Amino acid sequence: MKEVIVLGAGPGGYVAAIKAAKLRAQVKLIEKGEVGGTCLNRGCIPTKAMLHVLSLYEATKRGKAMGLEADNVKINFEKFCTYRDDVVKRLRQGIQFLLRKNNVELIKGEGRLTGHGEVTVNGNKLQGRVILATGSSPSRPSFFSFDKEYILNSDDILALKKIPASLLIIGAGAIGVEFAAIFNSLGTKVILIEMLPRIIPAEDEEIAQILAKEMGKKGIIIKTGAKVENIKVLKEKGVKIKVSSGEEVFVEKVLVAVGRTPNIAGMGFEDAGVKIENGKIDVNSRLETNIPDVFAIGDITIGPLLAHKASSQAITAAVNAAGGNEEFLMGDIIPACIYSFPEVARVGLTEKEAKAAGHKTKIGKFPFRGLGKAQAISQVEGMAKVIVNSETEEILGVHIIGPHATELIGEVSLARRMEATCNDIATTCHPHPTLSEVLMEACHAVYGQSIHLP
Ligand code: NAI
Repeated sequence: MKEVIVLGAGPGGYVAAIKAAKLRAQVKLIEKGEVGGTCLNRGCIPTKAMLHVLSLYEATKRGKAMGLEADNVKINFEKFCTYRDDVVKRLRQGIQFLLRKNNVELIKGEGRLTGHGEVTVNGNKLQGRVILATGSSPSRPSFFSFDKEYILNSDDILALKKIPASLLIIGAGAIGVEFAAIFNSLGTKVILIEMLPRIIPAEDEEIAQILAKEMGKKGIIIKTGAKVENIKVLKEKGVKIKVSSGEEVFVEKVLVAVGRTPNIAGMGFEDAGVKIENGKIDVNSRLETNIPDVFAIGDITIGPLLAHKASSQAITAAVNAAGGNEEFLMGDIIPACIYSFPEVARVGLTEKEAKAAGHKTKIGKFPFRGLGKAQAISQVEGMAKVIVNSETEEILGVHIIGPHATELIGEVSLARRMEATCNDIATTCHPHPTLSEVLMEACHAVYGQSIHLP
Protein backbone atom coordinates (compact mmCIF):
# COMPACT_ATOMS: atom_id res chain seq x y z
CA MET A 1 0.00 0.00 0.00
CA LYS A 2 1.34 3.45 -0.95
CA GLU A 3 1.89 5.93 1.87
CA VAL A 4 0.86 9.49 0.99
CA ILE A 5 1.52 12.52 3.18
CA VAL A 6 -0.39 15.70 2.37
CA LEU A 7 0.78 19.01 3.83
CA GLY A 8 -2.11 21.46 4.24
CA ALA A 9 -5.85 20.71 4.43
CA GLY A 10 -7.29 23.47 2.23
CA PRO A 11 -9.35 22.78 -0.91
CA GLY A 12 -6.17 21.40 -2.48
CA GLY A 13 -4.89 19.27 0.39
CA TYR A 14 -8.07 17.73 1.78
CA VAL A 15 -9.31 16.84 -1.72
CA ALA A 16 -5.93 15.24 -2.53
CA ALA A 17 -6.06 13.29 0.75
CA ILE A 18 -9.56 11.91 0.11
CA LYS A 19 -8.79 11.08 -3.53
CA ALA A 20 -5.57 9.26 -2.60
CA ALA A 21 -7.47 7.34 0.10
CA LYS A 22 -10.14 6.35 -2.43
CA LEU A 23 -7.29 4.95 -4.53
CA ARG A 24 -6.37 2.80 -1.51
CA ALA A 25 -3.31 4.75 -0.38
CA GLN A 26 -2.63 5.10 3.33
CA VAL A 27 -2.99 8.85 3.83
CA LYS A 28 -1.79 11.23 6.51
CA LEU A 29 -3.04 14.82 6.24
CA ILE A 30 -1.18 17.47 8.23
CA GLU A 31 -2.84 20.76 9.16
CA LYS A 32 -1.79 23.38 11.72
CA GLY A 33 -5.10 25.27 11.65
CA GLU A 34 -8.62 24.30 10.64
CA VAL A 35 -9.49 21.94 7.81
CA GLY A 36 -10.83 23.76 4.75
CA GLY A 37 -7.99 26.30 4.57
CA THR A 38 -8.45 29.90 3.52
CA CYS A 39 -11.34 29.12 1.17
CA LEU A 40 -13.60 27.66 3.81
CA ASN A 41 -12.47 29.52 6.92
CA ARG A 42 -11.48 32.99 5.74
CA GLY A 43 -12.28 33.32 2.06
CA CYS A 44 -14.71 31.96 -0.51
CA ILE A 45 -17.32 30.47 1.79
CA PRO A 46 -17.80 33.08 4.55
CA THR A 47 -17.91 35.86 1.97
CA LYS A 48 -20.43 33.96 -0.14
CA ALA A 49 -22.64 33.42 2.92
CA MET A 50 -22.53 37.19 3.53
CA LEU A 51 -23.16 38.00 -0.12
CA HIS A 52 -26.12 35.64 -0.20
CA VAL A 53 -27.86 37.40 2.68
CA LEU A 54 -27.05 40.75 1.13
CA SER A 55 -28.42 39.69 -2.25
CA LEU A 56 -31.74 38.93 -0.49
CA TYR A 57 -31.53 42.31 1.21
CA GLU A 58 -30.86 44.06 -2.10
CA ALA A 59 -33.71 42.11 -3.72
CA THR A 60 -36.20 43.32 -1.12
CA LYS A 61 -35.10 46.88 -1.87
CA ARG A 62 -35.70 46.32 -5.58
CA GLY A 63 -38.94 44.52 -4.75
CA LYS A 64 -40.92 47.67 -4.05
CA ALA A 65 -41.22 48.41 -7.78
CA MET A 66 -42.46 44.84 -8.28
CA GLY A 67 -45.18 45.05 -5.64
CA LEU A 68 -43.16 43.46 -2.86
CA GLU A 69 -43.60 45.73 0.12
CA ALA A 70 -41.25 44.79 2.91
CA ASP A 71 -40.71 47.90 4.94
CA ASN A 72 -38.00 48.23 7.57
CA VAL A 73 -35.95 45.31 6.29
CA LYS A 74 -32.61 45.57 8.03
CA ILE A 75 -29.49 43.60 8.77
CA ASN A 76 -28.88 42.33 12.29
CA PHE A 77 -25.09 42.25 12.03
CA GLU A 78 -24.57 39.88 14.96
CA LYS A 79 -26.97 37.28 13.56
CA PHE A 80 -25.62 37.88 10.06
CA CYS A 81 -22.12 36.97 11.30
CA THR A 82 -23.44 33.98 13.26
CA TYR A 83 -25.16 32.67 10.12
CA ARG A 84 -21.89 33.04 8.19
CA ASP A 85 -19.85 31.33 10.93
CA ASP A 86 -22.38 28.47 11.21
CA VAL A 87 -22.13 27.77 7.49
CA VAL A 88 -18.34 27.53 7.87
CA LYS A 89 -18.61 25.30 10.96
CA ARG A 90 -21.02 22.91 9.24
CA LEU A 91 -18.79 22.53 6.20
CA ARG A 92 -15.72 22.02 8.40
CA GLN A 93 -17.52 19.20 10.21
CA GLY A 94 -18.46 17.79 6.80
CA ILE A 95 -14.81 17.65 5.73
CA GLN A 96 -13.80 16.01 9.03
CA PHE A 97 -16.55 13.42 8.54
CA LEU A 98 -15.37 12.67 4.99
CA LEU A 99 -11.75 12.34 6.16
CA ARG A 100 -12.79 9.86 8.87
CA LYS A 101 -14.98 7.83 6.51
CA ASN A 102 -12.10 7.59 4.04
CA ASN A 103 -9.64 6.57 6.78
CA VAL A 104 -7.47 9.64 6.29
CA GLU A 105 -5.41 10.27 9.41
CA LEU A 106 -5.62 13.98 10.26
CA ILE A 107 -2.57 15.16 12.17
CA LYS A 108 -2.74 18.52 13.91
CA GLY A 109 0.60 20.30 13.72
CA GLU A 110 3.04 22.23 11.61
CA GLY A 111 4.74 19.96 9.11
CA ARG A 112 8.15 20.50 7.48
CA LEU A 113 9.64 18.84 4.45
CA THR A 114 12.83 17.38 5.93
CA GLY A 115 14.05 15.26 3.03
CA HIS A 116 13.09 13.50 -0.16
CA GLY A 117 9.83 11.80 0.79
CA GLU A 118 10.10 12.81 4.44
CA VAL A 119 7.94 15.17 6.45
CA THR A 120 8.48 15.97 10.12
CA VAL A 121 5.55 16.94 12.31
CA ASN A 122 5.36 17.22 16.09
CA GLY A 123 8.83 15.67 16.28
CA ASN A 124 7.83 12.56 14.29
CA LYS A 125 9.35 11.68 10.94
CA LEU A 126 6.86 10.39 8.36
CA GLN A 127 7.94 8.71 5.14
CA GLY A 128 6.00 8.53 1.90
CA ARG A 129 5.04 10.31 -1.26
CA VAL A 130 4.37 13.94 -0.44
CA ILE A 131 1.80 16.42 -1.74
CA LEU A 132 2.56 20.03 -0.79
CA ALA A 133 -0.63 22.10 -0.56
CA THR A 134 0.20 24.92 1.83
CA GLY A 135 -1.79 27.69 0.11
CA SER A 136 -1.24 31.43 0.42
CA SER A 137 -1.67 34.33 2.85
CA PRO A 138 -2.62 37.98 2.38
CA SER A 139 0.43 39.95 1.23
CA ARG A 140 1.65 42.33 3.92
CA PRO A 141 3.59 45.18 2.30
CA SER A 142 5.57 46.84 5.11
CA PHE A 143 4.21 50.23 4.00
CA PHE A 144 0.92 49.32 5.70
CA SER A 145 1.25 48.80 9.46
CA PHE A 146 -1.42 46.13 9.88
CA ASP A 147 -2.86 46.34 13.39
CA LYS A 148 -6.03 44.20 13.08
CA GLU A 149 -8.06 47.16 14.29
CA TYR A 150 -7.75 50.01 11.80
CA ILE A 151 -5.57 48.63 9.01
CA LEU A 152 -6.94 45.26 8.10
CA ASN A 153 -6.33 42.42 5.71
CA SER A 154 -8.99 40.08 4.33
CA ASP A 155 -8.68 37.81 7.41
CA ASP A 156 -9.07 40.65 9.93
CA ILE A 157 -12.10 42.17 8.25
CA LEU A 158 -14.12 39.01 8.80
CA ALA A 159 -13.62 39.46 12.55
CA LEU A 160 -15.29 42.91 12.69
CA LYS A 161 -18.00 43.05 15.34
CA LYS A 162 -19.63 46.20 14.03
CA ILE A 163 -20.35 47.65 10.61
CA PRO A 164 -17.86 50.49 10.00
CA ALA A 165 -19.28 53.84 8.91
CA SER A 166 -16.57 54.17 6.27
CA LEU A 167 -14.02 51.87 4.68
CA LEU A 168 -11.16 52.57 2.30
CA ILE A 169 -10.15 49.52 0.27
CA ILE A 170 -6.70 49.48 -1.29
CA GLY A 171 -6.55 47.23 -4.37
CA ALA A 172 -9.42 46.54 -6.76
CA GLY A 173 -8.76 42.88 -7.57
CA ALA A 174 -11.22 40.10 -6.68
CA ILE A 175 -10.86 40.60 -2.92
CA GLY A 176 -11.15 44.40 -3.07
CA VAL A 177 -14.30 44.47 -5.19
CA GLU A 178 -16.00 41.65 -3.26
CA PHE A 179 -15.55 43.41 0.06
CA ALA A 180 -16.58 46.70 -1.59
CA ALA A 181 -19.86 44.99 -2.59
CA ILE A 182 -20.35 43.52 0.89
CA PHE A 183 -19.75 46.70 2.88
CA ASN A 184 -21.55 48.97 0.42
CA SER A 185 -24.61 46.79 0.82
CA LEU A 186 -24.21 46.88 4.62
CA GLY A 187 -24.43 50.67 4.44
CA THR A 188 -20.75 51.54 4.85
CA LYS A 189 -19.35 54.40 2.78
CA VAL A 190 -16.84 52.58 0.58
CA ILE A 191 -13.87 54.09 -1.26
CA LEU A 192 -11.94 51.77 -3.57
CA ILE A 193 -8.41 52.75 -4.58
CA GLU A 194 -6.56 51.03 -7.41
CA MET A 195 -3.11 52.03 -8.65
CA LEU A 196 -3.71 50.73 -12.20
CA PRO A 197 -5.95 52.66 -14.63
CA ARG A 198 -8.99 50.43 -13.98
CA ILE A 199 -10.57 48.06 -11.49
CA ILE A 200 -10.22 44.25 -11.90
CA PRO A 201 -7.24 44.85 -14.20
CA ALA A 202 -6.86 41.17 -15.08
CA GLU A 203 -10.34 41.03 -16.60
CA ASP A 204 -11.58 42.16 -20.02
CA GLU A 205 -11.55 45.96 -20.24
CA GLU A 206 -15.17 46.26 -21.34
CA ILE A 207 -16.32 44.04 -18.47
CA ALA A 208 -14.31 46.08 -15.97
CA GLN A 209 -15.94 49.27 -17.27
CA ILE A 210 -19.42 47.82 -16.77
CA LEU A 211 -18.57 46.72 -13.23
CA ALA A 212 -17.13 50.15 -12.38
CA LYS A 213 -20.32 51.78 -13.67
CA GLU A 214 -22.59 49.45 -11.69
CA MET A 215 -20.52 49.88 -8.52
CA GLY A 216 -20.62 53.64 -9.03
CA LYS A 217 -24.42 53.55 -9.31
CA LYS A 218 -24.53 51.87 -5.91
CA GLY A 219 -22.51 54.69 -4.40
CA ILE A 220 -19.06 53.08 -4.22
CA ILE A 221 -16.40 55.72 -4.80
CA ILE A 222 -13.73 54.41 -7.16
CA LYS A 223 -10.35 56.06 -7.58
CA THR A 224 -8.17 54.46 -10.25
CA GLY A 225 -4.61 55.36 -11.19
CA ALA A 226 -4.26 56.35 -7.54
CA LYS A 227 -1.77 55.30 -4.89
CA VAL A 228 -1.78 55.73 -1.15
CA GLU A 229 1.15 57.98 -0.29
CA ASN A 230 0.73 58.24 3.42
CA ILE A 231 -1.41 56.54 6.01
CA LYS A 232 -1.85 57.64 9.60
CA VAL A 233 -3.89 55.87 12.27
CA LEU A 234 -5.66 58.42 14.48
CA LYS A 235 -7.20 55.72 16.71
CA GLU A 236 -10.77 56.70 17.71
CA LYS A 237 -10.79 59.31 14.95
CA GLY A 238 -10.10 56.61 12.37
CA VAL A 239 -7.43 56.72 9.70
CA LYS A 240 -6.10 59.59 7.59
CA ILE A 241 -4.94 58.65 4.10
CA LYS A 242 -3.10 60.83 1.63
CA VAL A 243 -3.71 59.76 -1.97
CA SER A 244 -1.32 60.45 -4.87
CA SER A 245 -3.79 63.00 -6.30
CA GLY A 246 -3.02 65.10 -3.22
CA GLU A 247 -6.44 64.44 -1.72
CA GLU A 248 -6.79 63.51 1.97
CA VAL A 249 -9.36 60.93 2.98
CA PHE A 250 -10.60 60.14 6.51
CA VAL A 251 -12.17 56.72 7.13
CA GLU A 252 -12.97 54.45 10.05
CA LYS A 253 -11.18 51.39 8.66
CA VAL A 254 -8.77 50.48 5.87
CA LEU A 255 -8.71 47.13 4.07
CA VAL A 256 -5.52 46.27 2.21
CA ALA A 257 -6.23 43.84 -0.65
CA VAL A 258 -3.12 44.03 -2.80
CA GLY A 259 -2.58 40.34 -3.49
CA ARG A 260 -1.66 37.12 -1.75
CA THR A 261 1.72 35.45 -1.17
CA PRO A 262 2.24 31.68 -1.56
CA ASN A 263 3.08 29.95 1.75
CA ILE A 264 6.50 28.58 0.84
CA ALA A 265 9.00 30.11 3.27
CA GLY A 266 9.86 28.41 6.55
CA MET A 267 8.61 24.92 5.74
CA GLY A 268 11.85 23.35 4.61
CA PHE A 269 10.96 23.23 0.91
CA GLU A 270 14.06 25.06 -0.28
CA ASP A 271 16.39 23.25 2.14
CA ALA A 272 15.02 19.94 0.85
CA GLY A 273 15.97 21.06 -2.67
CA VAL A 274 12.53 21.90 -4.10
CA LYS A 275 12.94 24.22 -7.10
CA ILE A 276 11.21 27.57 -6.59
CA GLU A 277 10.85 30.15 -9.33
CA ASN A 278 9.46 33.66 -8.87
CA GLY A 279 8.03 32.72 -5.48
CA LYS A 280 6.19 29.62 -6.76
CA ILE A 281 7.03 25.94 -6.80
CA ASP A 282 7.98 24.63 -10.21
CA VAL A 283 5.98 21.52 -11.18
CA ASN A 284 5.76 19.39 -14.32
CA SER A 285 2.52 18.35 -16.03
CA ARG A 286 2.16 15.50 -13.48
CA LEU A 287 2.38 18.21 -10.78
CA GLU A 288 5.62 16.69 -9.54
CA THR A 289 8.37 19.00 -8.30
CA ASN A 290 11.99 18.52 -9.31
CA ILE A 291 12.17 15.98 -6.45
CA PRO A 292 10.63 12.66 -7.48
CA ASP A 293 7.51 11.76 -5.50
CA VAL A 294 7.13 15.25 -4.06
CA PHE A 295 4.12 16.92 -5.67
CA ALA A 296 2.78 20.48 -5.29
CA ILE A 297 -0.68 21.91 -5.96
CA GLY A 298 -2.76 25.06 -5.54
CA ASP A 299 -1.62 28.58 -4.69
CA ILE A 300 2.04 27.56 -4.26
CA THR A 301 2.22 26.57 -7.95
CA ILE A 302 2.10 28.62 -11.15
CA GLY A 303 -1.33 29.89 -12.24
CA PRO A 304 -4.23 31.65 -10.58
CA LEU A 305 -4.76 31.53 -6.81
CA LEU A 306 -8.14 29.84 -6.91
CA ALA A 307 -9.70 27.12 -4.77
CA HIS A 308 -11.10 25.19 -7.73
CA LYS A 309 -7.71 25.17 -9.44
CA ALA A 310 -6.24 23.62 -6.27
CA SER A 311 -9.01 21.00 -6.02
CA SER A 312 -8.70 20.14 -9.67
CA GLN A 313 -4.92 19.74 -9.41
CA ALA A 314 -5.44 17.74 -6.21
CA ILE A 315 -7.11 14.93 -8.16
CA THR A 316 -4.18 14.66 -10.61
CA ALA A 317 -1.54 14.84 -7.87
CA ALA A 318 -3.35 12.24 -5.74
CA VAL A 319 -3.66 9.83 -8.67
CA ASN A 320 0.07 10.18 -9.32
CA ALA A 321 1.06 9.94 -5.66
CA ALA A 322 -1.04 6.78 -5.39
CA GLY A 323 0.94 5.22 -8.22
CA GLY A 324 -0.94 6.40 -11.33
CA ASN A 325 0.25 8.54 -14.19
CA GLU A 326 -1.92 11.49 -15.13
CA GLU A 327 -1.27 14.95 -16.48
CA PHE A 328 -2.93 18.21 -15.47
CA LEU A 329 -3.66 19.80 -18.82
CA MET A 330 -6.54 22.07 -17.99
CA GLY A 331 -4.59 25.19 -17.14
CA ASP A 332 -6.27 27.36 -19.78
CA ILE A 333 -9.86 26.42 -18.95
CA ILE A 334 -9.80 27.35 -15.28
CA PRO A 335 -12.74 29.70 -14.74
CA ALA A 336 -12.16 32.95 -12.85
CA CYS A 337 -15.09 34.28 -10.83
CA ILE A 338 -15.67 37.53 -8.97
CA TYR A 339 -18.65 37.62 -6.64
CA SER A 340 -19.40 41.30 -6.85
CA PHE A 341 -22.81 42.87 -7.50
CA PRO A 342 -23.14 42.08 -10.42
CA GLU A 343 -20.98 38.98 -10.67
CA VAL A 344 -18.13 38.58 -13.16
CA ALA A 345 -16.91 35.30 -14.67
CA ARG A 346 -14.41 34.36 -17.31
CA VAL A 347 -12.80 31.45 -19.09
CA GLY A 348 -9.90 32.05 -21.47
CA LEU A 349 -8.45 35.19 -23.00
CA THR A 350 -9.55 38.81 -22.82
CA GLU A 351 -10.04 40.68 -26.11
CA LYS A 352 -6.68 42.39 -25.67
CA GLU A 353 -4.88 39.13 -24.83
CA ALA A 354 -6.42 37.36 -27.84
CA LYS A 355 -5.24 40.13 -30.18
CA ALA A 356 -1.79 40.23 -28.55
CA ALA A 357 -1.48 36.48 -29.10
CA GLY A 358 -1.97 37.10 -32.83
CA HIS A 359 -5.47 35.64 -33.18
CA LYS A 360 -7.83 36.98 -35.83
CA THR A 361 -10.96 37.41 -33.79
CA LYS A 362 -14.67 37.90 -34.13
CA ILE A 363 -16.75 38.89 -31.14
CA GLY A 364 -20.37 38.41 -30.14
CA LYS A 365 -22.13 40.14 -27.26
CA PHE A 366 -25.57 39.79 -25.82
CA PRO A 367 -27.05 41.91 -23.01
CA PHE A 368 -29.01 40.27 -20.17
CA ARG A 369 -31.64 42.96 -20.86
CA GLY A 370 -32.72 40.98 -23.94
CA LEU A 371 -33.63 37.86 -21.95
CA GLY A 372 -37.13 37.09 -20.71
CA LYS A 373 -35.74 35.56 -17.52
CA ALA A 374 -33.53 38.57 -16.72
CA GLN A 375 -36.56 40.84 -17.16
CA ALA A 376 -38.73 38.56 -15.02
CA ILE A 377 -36.26 38.67 -12.13
CA SER A 378 -35.52 42.33 -12.73
CA GLN A 379 -31.77 41.85 -13.08
CA VAL A 380 -30.96 43.16 -16.52
CA GLU A 381 -27.51 44.68 -16.06
CA GLY A 382 -24.55 43.13 -17.83
CA MET A 383 -23.83 40.90 -20.80
CA ALA A 384 -22.01 37.91 -22.19
CA LYS A 385 -19.09 38.48 -24.54
CA VAL A 386 -17.68 35.67 -26.65
CA ILE A 387 -14.33 35.95 -28.41
CA VAL A 388 -13.72 33.47 -31.21
CA ASN A 389 -10.81 32.75 -33.54
CA SER A 390 -12.32 33.68 -36.90
CA GLU A 391 -10.18 31.15 -38.79
CA THR A 392 -10.69 28.09 -36.59
CA GLU A 393 -13.99 28.90 -34.77
CA GLU A 394 -12.17 28.08 -31.53
CA ILE A 395 -13.66 29.80 -28.48
CA LEU A 396 -10.78 31.90 -27.17
CA GLY A 397 -12.50 33.62 -24.29
CA VAL A 398 -15.91 34.07 -22.73
CA HIS A 399 -16.73 36.86 -20.29
CA ILE A 400 -19.99 37.21 -18.43
CA ILE A 401 -21.01 40.07 -16.16
CA GLY A 402 -24.48 39.93 -14.68
CA PRO A 403 -26.84 37.83 -12.56
CA HIS A 404 -25.43 34.39 -11.66
CA ALA A 405 -22.46 34.88 -14.02
CA THR A 406 -20.37 32.59 -11.82
CA GLU A 407 -22.88 29.74 -12.24
CA LEU A 408 -23.22 30.28 -15.98
CA ILE A 409 -19.51 30.02 -16.77
CA GLY A 410 -19.32 26.26 -16.01
CA GLU A 411 -20.81 25.47 -19.41
CA VAL A 412 -17.91 27.28 -21.09
CA SER A 413 -15.28 25.24 -19.22
CA LEU A 414 -16.89 22.04 -20.44
CA ALA A 415 -17.31 23.42 -23.97
CA ARG A 416 -13.64 24.38 -24.13
CA ARG A 417 -12.55 21.07 -22.69
CA MET A 418 -14.59 19.20 -25.32
CA GLU A 419 -13.21 21.58 -27.96
CA ALA A 420 -16.72 22.71 -28.86
CA THR A 421 -16.92 25.57 -31.36
CA CYS A 422 -18.89 28.76 -30.95
CA ASN A 423 -21.47 27.39 -33.40
CA ASP A 424 -21.85 24.25 -31.22
CA ILE A 425 -22.95 26.41 -28.29
CA ALA A 426 -25.13 28.64 -30.48
CA THR A 427 -27.03 25.67 -31.92
CA THR A 428 -27.40 23.79 -28.62
CA CYS A 429 -30.95 23.99 -27.31
CA HIS A 430 -30.79 25.95 -24.04
CA PRO A 431 -33.71 25.89 -21.59
CA HIS A 432 -36.12 28.81 -21.74
CA PRO A 433 -36.59 30.99 -19.84
CA THR A 434 -33.17 30.91 -18.20
CA LEU A 435 -30.18 33.14 -17.85
CA SER A 436 -28.14 30.47 -19.68
CA GLU A 437 -29.63 31.76 -22.93
CA VAL A 438 -27.27 34.74 -22.67
CA LEU A 439 -24.37 32.55 -23.77
CA MET A 440 -26.31 30.93 -26.62
CA GLU A 441 -27.41 34.35 -27.88
CA ALA A 442 -23.88 35.80 -27.59
CA CYS A 443 -22.58 32.84 -29.65
CA HIS A 444 -25.27 33.53 -32.29
CA ALA A 445 -24.24 37.20 -32.17
CA VAL A 446 -20.71 36.20 -33.22
CA TYR A 447 -22.27 35.39 -36.62
CA GLY A 448 -24.66 38.36 -36.54
CA GLN A 449 -27.52 35.89 -36.04
CA SER A 450 -28.84 36.64 -32.55
CA ILE A 451 -32.63 36.45 -32.67
CA HIS A 452 -33.20 38.87 -29.81
CA LEU A 453 -30.87 41.63 -31.00
CA PRO A 454 -32.15 44.27 -33.39
P1 NAI B 1 -5.15 40.84 -6.92
O1 NAI B 1 -3.74 40.67 -7.29
O2 NAI B 1 -6.20 40.17 -7.71
O3 NAI B 1 -5.53 42.40 -6.90
C1 NAI B 1 -4.79 43.33 -6.16
C2 NAI B 1 -4.97 44.69 -6.78
O4 NAI B 1 -4.31 45.64 -5.96
C3 NAI B 1 -4.38 44.82 -8.18
O5 NAI B 1 -5.35 45.33 -9.05
C4 NAI B 1 -3.22 45.79 -7.97
O6 NAI B 1 -2.98 46.60 -9.10
C5 NAI B 1 -3.69 46.60 -6.78
N1 NAI B 1 -2.63 47.21 -5.97
C6 NAI B 1 -1.48 46.66 -5.57
N2 NAI B 1 -0.79 47.51 -4.80
C7 NAI B 1 -1.53 48.64 -4.69
C8 NAI B 1 -1.38 49.87 -4.01
N3 NAI B 1 -0.30 50.12 -3.25
N4 NAI B 1 -2.35 50.82 -4.13
C9 NAI B 1 -3.47 50.56 -4.87
N5 NAI B 1 -3.65 49.42 -5.53
C10 NAI B 1 -2.71 48.45 -5.44
O7 NAI B 1 -5.21 40.45 -5.38
P2 NAI B 1 -6.42 40.22 -4.37
O8 NAI B 1 -7.68 40.87 -4.82
O9 NAI B 1 -5.85 40.60 -3.06
O10 NAI B 1 -6.64 38.66 -4.43
C11 NAI B 1 -5.56 37.77 -4.18
C12 NAI B 1 -5.72 36.48 -4.93
O11 NAI B 1 -6.81 35.76 -4.43
C13 NAI B 1 -5.96 36.72 -6.40
O12 NAI B 1 -5.17 35.83 -7.13
C14 NAI B 1 -7.41 36.40 -6.58
O13 NAI B 1 -7.70 35.87 -7.84
C15 NAI B 1 -7.67 35.39 -5.48
N6 NAI B 1 -9.05 35.51 -5.04
C16 NAI B 1 -10.05 35.04 -5.83
C17 NAI B 1 -11.35 35.20 -5.48
C18 NAI B 1 -12.39 34.69 -6.38
O14 NAI B 1 -12.12 33.90 -7.24
N7 NAI B 1 -13.62 35.11 -6.25
C19 NAI B 1 -11.74 35.87 -4.26
C20 NAI B 1 -10.64 36.31 -3.51
C21 NAI B 1 -9.36 36.14 -3.90
